[in-house]
Formats: sequence, structure tokens, C-alpha cells
Amino acid sequence: MTEFFISTPIYYVNDVPHLGHAYSMINADAFARWHRGIGDEVYFLTGTDEHGQKVADSATRASMSVKDWTDLYAQRFKDAWVKLGIAYDDFIRTTEKRHEVAVQKFLQALYDNGYIYLGTYTGSYCVSCEAYYSPGDIVDGLCPVHRIALTQMEEENYFFRLSAFRERLIEWYNEDPEAVFPDFRRNEALSFITGGLDDISISRTSISWGIPIPWDERHVCYVWFDALINYLTGIGYDAPGYQRFWQHSHHLIGKDIIRFHCVWWPAMCMAAGLKPPTKVLVHGWLLVEGAKMAKSGGNGVDPIELVGRYGSDTVRYYLLREHALGADGDFSIEALENRYNVDLANNIGNLLSRVTNIVEKSLQGQAPPATGRVLDFAKVREHVGRASRAWGAFASAQALEEVQSLVRMTNSILEERAPWKVEDTREIGEILGDALEILRLVAFLVSPVLVDSAPRILQAIGIDGASLSIPYADSLEVGLYGGGVSISKAPPLFPRLRPINA
Ligand code: MSP
Repeated sequence: MTEFFISTPIYYVNDVPHLGHAYSMINADAFARWHRGIGDEVYFLTGTDEHGQKVADSATRASMSVKDWTDLYAQRFKDAWVKLGIAYDDFIRTTEKRHEVAVQKFLQALYDNGYIYLGTYTGSYCVSCEAYYSPGDIVDGLCPVHRIALTQMEEENYFFRLSAFRERLIEWYNEDPEAVFPDFRRNEALSFITGGLDDISISRTSISWGIPIPWDERHVCYVWFDALINYLTGIGYDAPGYQRFWQHSHHLIGKDIIRFHCVWWPAMCMAAGLKPPTKVLVHGWLLVEGAKMAKSGGNGVDPIELVGRYGSDTVRYYLLREHALGADGDFSIEALENRYNVDLANNIGNLLSRVTNIVEKSLQGQAPPATGRVLDFAKVREHVGRASRAWGAFASAQALEEVQSLVRMTNSILEERAPWKVEDTREIGEILGDALEILRLVAFLVSPVLVDSAPRILQAIGIDGASLSIPYADSLEVGLYGGGVSISKAPPLFPRLRPINA
């Protein structure tokens, strides 16, 4: 058994969650579920980023205290995650005492190690990004991301000596070429480093909504510096035991926050005497007609509404099947419905109802065992192996494609052998036993995504759905379906939405 620590970014509570945020969560949840399934000890951490000017401004606009505002919005994120079937182990809010303790401990370590100094910051700040911009980044006097006016600042700030880590960061990237995934994101991060690093301002005196700097309480910690440290708070940075998970840390992030996670954070870890994270997994953006889905862009899709219409398994499946980690991907209802109809209704759902129906009709409901006489089990083993490796390599779209290949292969064997026309019950048994074996394997392989339907598949073929809640690596062996149970025609798992336009 190995530890597997996976985190998502912590979400700003300036607004409600949209499907872009849900995309991060669903990916992380599926990876966490896969690792639990194969017997790893998983710690899945998520939460909310509650400091900074953006959140404080949102509360002021709503005439609410920041505390009441953050309580309300943190709860909205939690509610959305319940609806999407997300099973995290811990939800951290950066306004919690445990986080203040961890941040102050971390800052003190950096200060004691000589990586923090007092200076004056003069320049521009984007409240939406909660980021400082140097003249070279600014486009037409505006924020390069949000295209909004920047705030001019001149303040006495504490600075982190990021510039001192250029060589060590390059060394880390060279020694561990897989530390940032996928590869093209790694190159992007590396180019930020080779391009030169400026020290960063890490405190503010003009706002009070934040964590006080432990040795100088006139300053509060800059929101990004505080936020990154959540990954340590969540695994108990105040006690030595945190190292167990830290040695196996995986941060899933969106491509817009690469600089913070792939440049700042590893340097901050080095400065505190820690090893940098094990892996940073970078996903692309969900786009709507080519533009980033965002609340501020007015094109944010409400994940709760979508789940209400299609169910959480469908939303989860569509997002993971359609969008490979790393690249941007378009969101559209047509694509979601099409995926549902083709992969879930026509392939998986159809296989289940067909097979259980014939067992009921032709074999008096007595499920036959798998024999490997009809399906080529060597080939099945290859698909299962590839799907498992894909899950392990964070390639959910590929894992799900392997599952679809298995299902397509089985559906076409059924077409070819037409067990509904066969009279010899021994032959029917051989055909259906192998098909049942595929359904069994499919249930395990899709269980990180289809969290409600996978146990229903197992139950429909006479296996306890709870087998998915315990480590199941051994169940991925091919040929284990023993039959000998009584089953009946399964109710439609994925009723067809509407006829597909061929
Ligand atoms: N609070 C910071 C993260 C701090 S982590 C130490 C933040 N919050 S955020 O709410 O703005 O964004 C959280 C995550 O949602 C980011 O990874 C971002 O990439 C992701 N997404 C926001 N919109 C998205 C899409 N349209 N598509 C995919 N992910 C998107 O940044």
C-alpha cells in the first residue's frame, strides 16, 4: 500500500461554483477513487480560498460581514460537491485557525532561513487575479487576463527571495522530468523560470483581511502565499506525521495558475526545507464557444442545474471522457447528450439490459460462469491493463475509451452470435457468461467516474455493489465471473435521451 495525496486548487469564495471548478473536482475525485480502489491510502484535499481583496470586496458589495459571506459561499461549494458525488477526505477553509497556525509556522521558517526581507513595492495589482504585474506583463495598461484596470500600489512589503531559487528550480525540473504533467505544461513552467525570476511581495499593509505576519502584525500575508500553504495545513503540517503524505503529493490545477504552483510553490517548499511536490497535474480550461467559462464572463454553467437535468454520473462521465487532461475543451449540451446516448445508453446500458434480459428469458435467470470460449480473454486482459495504466497515468479519457472498446467488442460478438436465436442452452451460457464477465470488469473500471451506476451494474449481475468500496485490484483479473446466481432483466440504467442523428 502506498500513500496518495491529491489536492485541488482551493476556490475563491467571491462567487458560486461553475462547471469549470467542477471539472477540477471531478478529475481529482476520479483519481482519488481509482487509488482507493487499488488499495492506496488516499488523502483527497479540497477547500476554499477566503482571504484577499477580491473576497473582501464581494462581501462589502453585498453589505455583509466578510465572515458571514465566506460562511455562506464556502457552504455553496460544499453543497455543489455533494451533488456531484465528490468524496473528499478534508475540506480546508483558509480562515480556519489550523491554517493560520500552519501559515505562520511556514512564514517563520522562511524568515528564519533568510528568504524574507522588507522592501517597498511599487507597481500594479489586479484584484481579480490577486496578482502583481510587472510592466512587461501589462497589455494596453490593463490586466493581461481580465482586461480590467490595475490598481497602482506603493507599499512597504515583505518580499520572498524567489530569485535565489532559479538554479535550484531548473535542477529540480531536470532531475524530475515528470514533476509537471503534461509535458507541454512543464515546458511552459520551465520557461517562466529560465526567463528570470523576480522576488515577490508577500505581505500587504493596506488591507487587514488576511493572516498576520507573525513577526510584524502590521502586515497580513498576501493571499496567494497563504493559499498555497493550505496543502500543508490539510495534511497536518504542525505534526511530523504530515511527511507521510507529503512524500506522495499530487496537486491538480488549472493552466492559469501554473506560475504559482510550478514556480513559486516548489521554491517556497525549498525555502522551508521541504521537498517540492511530487507532481503537479495541469488541466486546461472548459470553454464555451471558444471562451473560458467564467462567472465574470457571464458564461458560467451551473453544475447543480446540469446534475438536476442529467444526473451526476452523466456530467462526470462527459467531462472526463471528452476532455483529456492538459488541453482546453469546449463544453456543449449537444456533446454531452451525444456522449450520453452513444457511450452510456447505447453501449454500456444496452449491453447490460440485453445480457440480463436473455439470461432471464433463455436461462431461467440462472447466470452462467465466464469461460473465455467466446471472447478472447487475452485481448480483454490487454484492454483492462491499458485502462488500469491509463487511470494510473491520469489519462481518464483514455481509460474510458478502453472500457468502450471492451463494450463495443462484446456488443458486436452478441450481434454475431445472436444468443437470442440459439437453442442450445450450453452455447447460450458460454456467450452470456463471457458478456457478464465484461460487465463485471466494466463496473470496476468505470467506478471512479460512474459512482452511482457502477454498483448498480454489479448488483444487476448478482455481485454485491459494496465490492467497489473495498480495494479491488484483485477483481481486475480477467475471467472471475463465476455465475451461479439468479438475475433478472435490469431496469434501464441509462434511458435513451433522444434518437441520435447518425
Ligand atoms: N484561489 C485560487 C487557487 C488557489 S490554490 C492554492 C484560484 N481560485 S479560482 O476559484 O479562481 O480557480 C480555481 C480553479 O478553477 C483553478 O484551477 C482554475 O483553473 C479552475 N477553473 C476556473 N475556470 C475554469 C474553466 N473554465 N475551466 C477549467 N477550470 C477552470 O485560482
